[in-house]
Amino acid sequence: MLARWLVRLMDAQGVWSRPLGDLAFRFLHWFFGLMPAVRDLLVGRWLGHPMHAVLTDAPIGILFLVIVFDLFAMPEAAFWALAIGILAMLAAAVAGFADYADTDGKARERATLHSTLMLLALVVYLVSLGLRSGKGPVDAMGGPAPWLSIAGFLILSAGAYVGGDVVYVLGNMVNRHAFRGAGTKWISLEPAEVDVAGAIPEGRLVKAKLGINHLVLIRNGERILALHDTCAHAGGPLNEGRLLEGDVVECPWHASRYRMSDGLVVRGPSVYDQPAYEVRPREGGGWEARRRS
Ligand code: FES
Repeated sequence: MLARWLVRLMDAQGVWSRPLGDLAFRFLHWFFGLMPAVRDLLVGRWLGHPMHAVLTDAPIGILFLVIVFDLFAMPEAAFWALAIGILAMLAAAVAGFADYADTDGKARERATLHSTLMLLALVVYLVSLGLRSGKGPVDAMGGPAPWLSIAGFLILSAGAYVGGDVVYVLGNMVNRHAFRGAGTKWISLEPAEVDVAGAIPEGRLVKAKLGINHLVLIRNGERILALHDTCAHAGGPLNEGRLLEGDVVECPWHASRYRMSDGLVVRGPSVYDQPAYEVRPREGGGWEARRRS
């Protein structure tokens, strides 16, 4: 009951979060597009894990401590916890905006609500910090500064709830192959096209069917390289992307790049490697493939 009411409440914010999100997206997409290496650093490609998720726990924990220090009449500790918490919040926000630069649809709408709440919490915390530094140590729960920290934490918690929704409900930044097992069985491979000689066309991306899965292939002479066709980032069809130098495929949706030989992600926004497959000729003609371990 409560969950449904919260979903309705979040959905109702679409009136403003959708247009605002589209505007912010255009700017952030352009901005991070200018520096893909920085974007990769911030999204966490080097870590193989979304950085934003790693960085959000610190400010929440530290800013909760501010309330505890205020309650126990430790104004100096509360002041420093607040200052460090704000810095941690800023770090998490920068990583979050890098993720935001490649969101779509409902996830973008929710992410806009999430970041708006977080920015609101940040402003409340900054006011609280300003009051604390301007007037010297405050008494426990005396003056507006501690109350502002409590208000900030409530807004922060609401923002964290919406952020959780973006990931756990809408699946943003979730590995699209999280539940795919690594089978060792060879399965018949059916390329969507073959040339007049019955071979997989060389030098370009070719879609293929492997049981219930779709793969993207390239052929280099006798060697056939294969990846799962569904991009690990958000499900883009890799066979509709571009084949780049060095046998790298670029996703058509947000331009993540994967090495065809082993699925290694070489450019974000994806932070996950792509499942790779080995292909061999099948007895009696055709090909068969299985997922690499
Ligand atoms: S779906 Fe986003 S990069 Fe492929």
